[in-house]
Amino acid sequence: MRQAGRFLPEYRKIREKHEVLAICKDPELCAEVTAMPVEILGVDAAIMFADIMLPIEGMGVRLKIEEGIGPIISEPITDNSSAGALQELDAASDVPFVLDAIRLVKKLLNGKAPLIGFCGAPFTLASYLIEGRPTRDFTKVKSLMYRDPNTWHALMEKLADSMAAYLLAQVDAGVDAIQVFDSWVGCLNPRDYRTYVLPYSERIFQKLEASRVPRIHFGTGTSNFLEEMKLAGGDVFSVDWRIPIDEAWRRLGYDVAVQGNLDPAAMLADVELLKSFAADVLRRANGRCGHIFNLGHGMLPETSAETAAQLVKFVHNTTQTNLG
Ligand code: CP3
Repeated sequence: MRQAGRFLPEYRKIREKHEVLAICKDPELCAEVTAMPVEILGVDAAIMFADIMLPIEGMGVRLKIEEGIGPIISEPITDNSSAGALQELDAASDVPFVLDAIRLVKKLLNGKAPLIGFCGAPFTLASYLIEGRPTRDFTKVKSLMYRDPNTWHALMEKLADSMAAYLLAQVDAGVDAIQVFDSWVGCLNPRDYRTYVLPYSERIFQKLEASRVPRIHFGTGTSNFLEEMKLAGGDVFSVDWRIPIDEAWRRLGYDVAVQGNLDPAAMLADVELLKSFAADVLRRANGRCGHIFNLGHGMLPETSAETAAQLVKFVHNTTQTNLG
């Protein structure tokens, strides 16, 4: 998740001179920033430095990313004609810099850590496209979903196909795993998730099945429809801190892997309390194969790099002892 951008001083220095999207479009800079958390913090995987909105810009949408706010769209989608204007993504010509950066990162990491590619899930992308900016109540999205289902379903289908093509291009370029971020889907009830979202997330996971890379399905606020999320697909399910990870895993079933679920705010506690929170996650995961220790959502900007490095060390020490 937005890990580097939030707190690493080395990243902040680059950010003083370049916007987020400009870093994404410069493969050399992008590769350098992508490798930073592995080199500085010792985390076990790198995630591509990109943004879920990068391919959306490639589909012809004018947008900017405002610090402290997030993506802002100048002309949000309101109806069938603005949804229809969205072009299908051709990854090789619309976002060549992402694919170039992947090849560079793979060289830079040189087998030290796997590289995760990613995309936004259709619902989360649609929410930015329709609301035009981050929102709390998602009223414009839901109103289009309920009042104009034809436009909604056509938009979701186009997003799903474009994101599947984007992920397949990333796999071809060398990523070792992919993650689909449905960051805002927790605003829905299980019925609406099934009707308006599930078929399109499922479409992406199905199209990625043959690529045989692990597929991580990320969401927040999803504890009331984990079972539906599982139906949509994925090999790993990311859960946030609102549900104990053992309960989430029991509901998802032990045939899938689970990622999570420390509260990002735990990073602001003193180190001993933070360690006790992390130990609780590990105790609940119980050394079971297929647990990826992670935060339930992105790093908060207030997090210190020192604290993050201490947490990584603590998790490594604890799990290595347990594996004995
Ligand atoms: O190495 C890394 O930091 C990962 C790269 C990454 C970014 N965005 C770059 C970025 C990743 C994986 C993302 C994903 C992303 N972007 C998601 C899905 C994951 C999640 O956290 O939910 C979402 C919803 C977005 C949209 C977005 N972009 C938001 C909500 C913000 C935050 C705005 C803020 O400052 O609070 C962004 C900006 C953004 N994208 C930053 C980074 C590093 C923020 C820091 C900066 O301005 O440098």
